[in-house]
Amino acid sequence: MASTQDGSEGLYALLVCEHERLDGIFCQLLDALHADAREDVRQLWTHFEDDITTHMALEEKYIIEGLWHEGPEEARALLGEHDDIRRKLAELSVGVELHCVSEDVVKAFVRQLRDHARRENEHAYQWAAHFLDADVQEYLRQRLGAAESFRKNAPGLHARRQAISA
Ligand SMILES: [Fe+2]
Ligand SMILES: [Fe+2]
Repeated sequence: MASTQDGSEGLYALLVCEHERLDGIFCQLLDALHADAREDVRQLWTHFEDDITTHMALEEKYIIEGLWHEGPEEARALLGEHDDIRRKLAELSVGVELHCVSEDVVKAFVRQLRDHARRENEHAYQWAAHFLDADVQEYLRQRLGAAESFRKNAPGLHARRQAISA
């Protein structure tokens, strides 16, 4: 399958950008936790939980399902990581609700999410951008289009990500 700037390469960039958008929400959440801004934490958590839940469902339906036929071990590993992420989301939701979630626990979750995103960027997303059916690629491009505009309008995100990684 040929790659073009507006085709498979464009889809890959949008998929990676969606990871960066989710990471950006989490950076804001960490800032709010650090400032003990409880209402902001609650709103950002709800936003993040909704978006990452939708994100994983989209991956499972349109990418991992297809990857399963090509690389069942990788597909199985990603589904296992999604299950673990969902478990942690449920645990952290309780902590956010009770205002007792620690920054260290959230930072550890950020690292887990980044490792998972890096794994997808390096394999599943590469596969998706080259081998998904054209109509599925087009659907995903439309769903993810908003992420690109978010990235362009979020200066400073990189610096904040570096600060959290430190
Ligand atoms: Fe995922
Ligand atoms: Fe992902």
